[in-house]
Amino acid sequence: MIGVETEVAKRNAAYRAVDIVLERGYKLIGVGTGSTVEKFIEELSKRLGAREGVLFVPSSISTALLLRREGFRVLDASTVDFVEVYVDGADEVSEDGSMIKGGGAAMTLEKILAYSSLFNVFIVDYTKKVKRLGERHPLPVEVVPQALNIVLRKLKSMGLEADVRVSGRGKYGPVVSDLGGVIVDVRVPEKADLNELSETIESIPGVVSTGFFKGFTDLLIVGYSDRVEELRFTRKKGVHLAE
Ligand code: 5RP
Repeated sequence: MIGVETEVAKRNAAYRAVDIVLERGYKLIGVGTGSTVEKFIEELSKRLGAREGVLFVPSSISTALLLRREGFRVLDASTVDFVEVYVDGADEVSEDGSMIKGGGAAMTLEKILAYSSLFNVFIVDYTKKVKRLGERHPLPVEVVPQALNIVLRKLKSMGLEADVRVSGRGKYGPVVSDLGGVIVDVRVPEKADLNELSETIESIPGVVSTGFFKGFTDLLIVGYSDRVEELRFTRKKGVHLAE
């Protein structure tokens, strides 16, 4: 259950991201998925005067719907080769700016947009800060449906606990992402090197991506009930960077 304090903390982080987007005058904006991002869109809608000339690239159908409802112009990711800024939330963040994402099953397109972006801003409430990634949230893995049993067998043989994510209501069976992949949640073992684990999982045929984001963060805004903390990182991954 999300408390009032957490809601205010999410809002504070989201509103600070709106300040930055408006100050810098971005015109091509990638937008993530989730409740913190919703606050960002709603506040941006209130404060952005003229809509003309500003284009948005959503990471999910739910974000696209909200952007359209607020009267914004939306482009499909397939029509762009970069965005100027990308704003998104996260499920867990560590002190080096690495994250676990995918609580909304949208991490594949989120990672693509974050990779394409010139500047990445992640907005989280203070409860998302952890000492060890995976301590509360499993690692989401998107899998091509036809590969599901084979991938589950491989994960099991690696000694990992993996559960196919099922929808709470409104649909029987697995959660299927907007891209058509099934979401599998993998418990992160306490001693695991998450970077290595994610790379190994991503090398299994049929795995599309994991929700581990390392090296994508330019700016992390952590919201509290009465303030925000801004943490800057040296970006390592991006289409515009020599890696
Ligand atoms: C969606 C995500 C979200 O950014 C993450 O789940 C955080 O959501 P919220 O802002 O609702 O806490 O990765 O795939």
